[in-house]
Amino acid sequence: MGRNKIILGCQWGDEGKGKIVDLLAEKADITARFQGGANAGHTICVGDKKYILHLIPSGIIHPGKECVIGNGVVLDPFAFKEELDFLASQGIDYKDRLWVSPAANLVLPYHKLIDAVDEKNRGTEGLGTTKRGIGPAYVDKVARDGIRVADMFAPDRLKKRLEYQHKLKGKYLTGSDDERADLDRTYHELLKLAEIFKPLVVDISIFLSQAFKDGKSILFEGAQGSLLDVDLGTYPFATSSNTTIGGALTGLGVSHKMIDEVVGVVKAYTTRVGAGPFPTELVDDIGEQLRHHGDEYGASTGRPRRCGWLDLVVLRNSVRINGVDSIAITKLDVLDQLDEINVCTGYRLNGKEMTEVPLDLAELSHVKPTYTTLKGWKTDTTGTTEFASLPKNAQDYLNYIAKDLGVRICLVSTGAKRSETIFVST
Ligand code: GDP
Ligand code: IMO
Ligand code: MG
Repeated sequence: MGRNKIILGCQWGDEGKGKIVDLLAEKADITARFQGGANAGHTICVGDKKYILHLIPSGIIHPGKECVIGNGVVLDPFAFKEELDFLASQGIDYKDRLWVSPAANLVLPYHKLIDAVDEKNRGTEGLGTTKRGIGPAYVDKVARDGIRVADMFAPDRLKKRLEYQHKLKGKYLTGSDDERADLDRTYHELLKLAEIFKPLVVDISIFLSQAFKDGKSILFEGAQGSLLDVDLGTYPFATSSNTTIGGALTGLGVSHKMIDEVVGVVKAYTTRVGAGPFPTELVDDIGEQLRHHGDEYGASTGRPRRCGWLDLVVLRNSVRINGVDSIAITKLDVLDQLDEINVCTGYRLNGKEMTEVPLDLAELSHVKPTYTTLKGWKTDTTGTTEFASLPKNAQDYLNYIAKDLGVRICLVSTGAKRSETIFVST
């Protein structure tokens, strides 16, 4: 096991990354978020308490551990303030252990307005975004028109850059009575928020590099999942950041040499929120059963998640792109009631067999999955903590996945709580 691990979702998000990061953060010194924004919803259950974090790294729940938000994250300062207040209300002290990059781009109210208008304009071709302003904020970043955390501390520059937004985004802002279009209001609110941000701002690249030299361990926390990557996912039905391994390097300003082990998080079946192709989707009673037993409703938006069988074609893709060393399989317990479980091992299209995700989305939308059927275990596995105590059919299911992917299983999650976990020793 390496010192520094990166946790990456291997499907379409919501794999249970929050729980895994929380578990591993106990042994790390620093947890680092590198991409995405408040579109993420990472759930952590500690005893009877449930925390849902959107921007702040999941390591924050552990007293004394440091957390950083890198330049690759698009930071909604209002959502961030709400999250800080939430932590304070829970008695979680984040002072002197939460740091933010001055180079992170801000998600501002007008980005959310634009996100909503763009989605409406797409009509039936909508992406099903979280409407958190993520796409429009990354558009500004890449166009070099973005406003960054550092700009909050330079009022004249901030005002100028905000005023320029009027020119750029007139078609969305001019004449709108939506308060999110009011840039003057945004300007004054940002100046107030700047006071809260000031003590948290640190050059994260230098901070992590020094921590690495000092022998501290770093846990990298991915958001979303590989199939939502803007370059390598099911574009355009994707998010706007690099959710795969490269995003960690550019989103924090760290070297690949700082990552020792890539841990892929794999839900024991598949879910997806929002639009886009999903070859193994179940629109029948079994799909409904998975949603019900897995409580598959979005942690950020509350939307019902689409559910389907495990897809090895998707997972092979994620293992290859990210160089996954080991996998953490979550939500095994959700499959407990099933008589039989299907695993997708390939796709068929026009009589042709496929073992990889086709890049052409039109093809992916029309493939028919090929399934191998495994026997269910019909036993309650909730809270199991030893691999050997799992029913034989559950062990077979897990081993089947690991063998196909050519990776080892480092962890199996059998419930939402910390204690409901099997740590698989090597
Ligand atoms: P993330 O975005 O990858 O962090 O995942 P989410 O928090 O959006 O969704 C995962 C959901 O599954 C959360 O409600 C977790 O509390 C829950 N969860 C995580 N692991 C398990 C598990 O092993 N079993 C069950 N039943 N629930 C789990
Ligand atoms: P976590 O970190 C699941 C999805 C949205 C939509 C698409 C684009 O909790 O796994 P966006 O608002 O990013 O422009 O939406 O991406 N999406 C997620 N789906 N989990 C997430 O995050 C997601 N973040 C974005 O549903 O389909
Ligand atoms: Mg989530």
